[in-house]
Amino acid sequence: MRVLLVGGGGREHALALGLSGDPAVTQLMAAPGNPGIAGVAELRAVTPTDPAAVAALAVETAADLVVIGPEAPLVAGVADAVRAKGIAVFGPSAEAARLEGSKAFAKDVMTAAGVPTARAYVCTDEESTARALDEFGAPYVVKDDGLAAGKGVVVTDDRSVALAHARECGRVVVEEFLNGPEVSLFVVTDGEAALPLLPAQDFKRIGDGDTGPNTGGMGAYAPLPWAPAGLVDEVMRDVVHPTLAELRRRGTPFGGLLYVGLAMTAAGPRVIEFNARFGDPETQVVLALLETPLGGLLQAAATGTLAGHPPLRWRPGAAVTVVLAAQGYPAAPRTGDVITGADRPGIIHAGTARRAGDGALLSAGGRVLCGTATGADLAAARAAAYALVNGVELAGSQHRTDIAAAAVDGRITIPG
Ligand code: AMP
Ligand code: GLY
Repeated sequence: MRVLLVGGGGREHALALGLSGDPAVTQLMAAPGNPGIAGVAELRAVTPTDPAAVAALAVETAADLVVIGPEAPLVAGVADAVRAKGIAVFGPSAEAARLEGSKAFAKDVMTAAGVPTARAYVCTDEESTARALDEFGAPYVVKDDGLAAGKGVVVTDDRSVALAHARECGRVVVEEFLNGPEVSLFVVTDGEAALPLLPAQDFKRIGDGDTGPNTGGMGAYAPLPWAPAGLVDEVMRDVVHPTLAELRRRGTPFGGLLYVGLAMTAAGPRVIEFNARFGDPETQVVLALLETPLGGLLQAAATGTLAGHPPLRWRPGAAVTVVLAAQGYPAAPRTGDVITGADRPGIIHAGTARRAGDGALLSAGGRVLCGTATGADLAAARAAAYALVNGVELAGSQHRTDIAAAAVDGRITIPG
């Protein structure tokens, strides 16, 4: 099977490692890829959000399967354009990707499907925003309706900050604050059959102790030692299957990766958000533990044959990833700095580039790379991930020092 992977971040590097380890994958190409992905795939140049260009590349490379990593190409209709060429695609149609592309659409689907989530209002002017904020009270949650790379959400006790964010965004979703630890659950689906991966936890804020602004994600671990038994079954029953059924009913079935972001509240799991693709950096830890060959799994989802796929197999132990971000991330990341010490197994590249001429590795984005390690338990995986990240030199870089720490210490509790 020849696979073309679209994207070039840390998630795609993790996907590339998984795909290249599948004996059924005879050729792996990535577009545009990154210097880390270049170690396991042939890189091709493409604008990932250009549907015609990606479809043409899929034809030219005789791909049997196209795997789309990021959300922007999905929302732009890249999966539709590739499918129209008769090539199997892992990734939803533009219509179904609105589950991520529009927070208001996602809320509408959840309401129709009876999925437990935060109460919310869609607001387009100051007066309705203020009314919604006052109804729910602090902490205030204001979300940009459109795609914002994880940075469109403001959670604040300051009403004027909440109002200012709404003014900047134009159309927002104002919702009630959900109190409780967060879970990311990834579900591989062909629109009907659905296989959950291991639940993971992400760290959205830039600073230790969950302080500072939201980011794309600063680290992750899996599995979750504190998750209640039966959590995954409950989420499949109450969230995933009703949502997939609602999208089928609307004539826009969702095939690909349904990412369910949950808060574990006193009232039970509540959906914070849906994404239409693998999460970053949770994918790095979830795939580090997946023993089942990845190419065959994604192909089954892409070809509507997931019901016949064998149960997933997982490695014992745990995985942790720690993101190394550039100076100034998330507001204004500095790029172009030399990185050393990154040439080690377990270093996953995100925003990196090779300098023309000498080939030196440079920072080229906000989240630059991450150190991903497995271990017999969470403490061992955590120590190994930090050893990797601490071995990398990048001027001005930042990383959190508390990834997975509360879980290792047994300090995570569900309100109740
Ligand atoms: P989202 O882009 O919707 O995932 O939001 C980014 C982050 O903001 C989430 O991972 C949460 O940490 C936080 N957040 C979003 N919605 C809520 C909510 N209703 N209550 C509490 N925190 C939230
Ligand atoms: N880790 C959060 C995301 O991928 O949206």
